Amino acid sequence: MNDTFLKACRGEDVPYTPVWLMRQAGRYLPEYQAVRAEVDFLTLCKTPELAAKVTLQPVDKLNVDAAILFSDILIPVEAMGMHLSFSDKRGPILSEPIRNKSGVDRLLIPDTEDAMPFVIETIKILRKELEKKVPLIGFAGAPFTLATYMIEGGSSKNFLHTKKMMFQNPGLFHSLMDKITTTVTLYLGTQIKAGAQAVQLFDTWAGVLTPEDYKEFEFPYIKRAVAELKKEGVPIIYFANECAGLLKEIKKTGADVIGVDWRIDLREAIKRLGKKVAVQGNLDPCALFLPKEKIGERVEDILWKGEFAKGHIFNLGHGILPETPVENAITMVEAVHKYSRT
Ligand code: CP3
Repeated sequence: MNDTFLKACRGEDVPYTPVWLMRQAGRYLPEYQAVRAEVDFLTLCKTPELAAKVTLQPVDKLNVDAAILFSDILIPVEAMGMHLSFSDKRGPILSEPIRNKSGVDRLLIPDTEDAMPFVIETIKILRKELEKKVPLIGFAGAPFTLATYMIEGGSSKNFLHTKKMMFQNPGLFHSLMDKITTTVTLYLGTQIKAGAQAVQLFDTWAGVLTPEDYKEFEFPYIKRAVAELKKEGVPIIYFANECAGLLKEIKKTGADVIGVDWRIDLREAIKRLGKKVAVQGNLDPCALFLPKEKIGERVEDILWKGEFAKGHIFNLGHGILPETPVENAITMVEAVHKYSRT
């Protein structure tokens, strides 16, 4: 098996820099569109054969060094008892958003194995299919990011309901975070037990917090989940979007790998994170719309900066956009492999 990704997570020597793309299975791939033409998104997530199929599509097509389970961060929120749907225009919708104590009290801490058997089944199929190929990454949403969806009822601009709960009823907010963290930790434990060889926490909305609020309302939960999951012995990746102002805290989470978005120079991020963690990132997803030779130049620049870290996994600074030309994503992966070979 190609273990460059797992080695880089641990900071071990690798013959070239491994690469994968956040949201690498998705709408920019015609093969994905073909599957989605037949089933809705949630059915796709809950049908192991199909979820496994779309997970594998980018592995073969892009020649990436890791696969990531096809699912969604909101699946365990549904298992906590909220009603989840996806709208083509508005994205995810959680009806009856959590705004008060009775809302928080009603939330379940699910038995993650019983509540999401399709995830276990998908991982088992994938481990078989990937046996001689690449490792499988499992994932979950980070507690704060999940809390925003649960409190807002979907995507948001200013996160006013979330911040109102944080500021006006911090005790209630903390009790919600506690329940989410327990669920996320159990859920990732279930994924690891089923066969996930690394796990990533997606903290898409961490960057909307001030550093002080991050420290109080998110950091303790990340630290707790990481400490708990470390016992499982697989690399833990923590990706916080718009992380620049938070790196001083992020450094202390205990995660093995820190995912870095594109808004900060990777060398600067590494300086702030120090020598004890590996980094993942951080090409601007829009750079995949540059002419091919310019993509190569940007890749080289990031590879050079990544050399300063304990380990470097190449990735985009956030998810690949649905409009991305597939051949440019392939060009990027080829450039990473070619320019990093020593
Ligand atoms: O990386 C992968 O290839 C694995 C699959 C994956 C999806 N969602 C599939 C998906 C992963 C890791 C996620 C995580 C996720 N989901 C996040 C965090 C990652 C990030 O990008 O910050 C968030 C915030 C969500 C919630 C979510 N799911 C939103 C806001 C949306 C709608 C936005 C959009 O792009 O339409 C989704 C839907 C979703 N999740 C799609 C996919 C492929 C598109 C659904 C479709 O096929 O129509």
